[in-house]
Amino acid sequence: MKALILSGGKGTRLRPLTYTGAKQLVLVANKPILWYGIESIVAAGITDIGIIISPETGNEVKSKTGNGDRFGAKITYILQDQPAGLAHAVKVAQQFLGNYPFIMYLGDNLIESQLNLFLDSFSQQNLDSLILLHPVTNPSAFGVAKVDSQGRVLELIEKPENPPSNLALVGIYFFSEIIHQAIASIQPSVRGELEITDAIQWLINHQKKVQSCQIEGWWLDTAKKDDILEANRIILDTSPMSSILGQTDAQSQVIGRVQIGAGSQIINSTIRGPVVIGNDCYIERCFIGPYSSIADQVTLIDADLEHSVILEGAKVVGISYRIVDSLIGQRAQLTIASQRPKALRFLVGDDSQIELI
Ligand code: G1P
Repeated sequence: MKALILSGGKGTRLRPLTYTGAKQLVLVANKPILWYGIESIVAAGITDIGIIISPETGNEVKSKTGNGDRFGAKITYILQDQPAGLAHAVKVAQQFLGNYPFIMYLGDNLIESQLNLFLDSFSQQNLDSLILLHPVTNPSAFGVAKVDSQGRVLELIEKPENPPSNLALVGIYFFSEIIHQAIASIQPSVRGELEITDAIQWLINHQKKVQSCQIEGWWLDTAKKDDILEANRIILDTSPMSSILGQTDAQSQVIGRVQIGAGSQIINSTIRGPVVIGNDCYIERCFIGPYSSIADQVTLIDADLEHSVILEGAKVVGISYRIVDSLIGQRAQLTIASQRPKALRFLVGDDSQIELI
């Protein structure tokens, strides 16, 4: 069994962060989203992993993630030179996949369940495909499945206007080698992409064994800011934390589950967990409230924030309002220039959003 993780795409719904970086590398609880997928694949016993990368962000994904040693896996990077669809990604990975069955994992998906159970069910029933489903309130935003009472898949439609059910396709699929024949037989969709949903529909139409399984627990497709914040909240709620490697002075209070990385200094501040703070941060006269993740080398002075993700090298100084539900990009600066500010001065990137609430 092999694994194919898709880490290309343009990440349009996460702009402006994705103008300069891959959406799969955005940090959730200070770890790239992509790494959660790699870890759960390795935990299921699959160590031969191919990662699909794009020309725009491929080098960044490669240099951050490495050859797989840190995960106990072997990673092969495969370039998809254009965003021509999920099935197209499988096509370009055909040489890597050979005749092995494989799990295909969309690099921006996170699920609570472990993969072992699904893997066993796929192998034991000798299936050609196993898809995972989750009920949602907005099925038109996803691939949607119609299934019979035994979980056999009858029909799949990508982003339907009139969804036949509320069961969305989770971005984790199991395939036998027959999927390559299906992909070779389908045509690009109206949006010009080779759709994996069409390839699975081909399997169904050719009486191949396609089963579904509704996943228990949460599933997040981290396409937008609020998905990232929600993923951050859930991971901080469930991951064990306690290590305090940085320094906190006598005027500071650290309450609840808090992690502070090496070289970080906390001065005259209150940190109320769950909170994770990376390495080499400087935090003075701040309140850092629950569900905040602060990446490495962040400076926070006279700031008050909660339920927010602050990425590497960002600086927030002297903002007297509480910062909530925010995602602040790498090296972004929110600072104060005078004692009694009366105006706001911005240099804000394309597609940024600032809201005074
Ligand atoms: C893709 C798939 C869709 C699936 C979704 C899950 O959509 O095309 O069928 O439901 O992933 O994350 P995308 O997120 O690329 O729009």
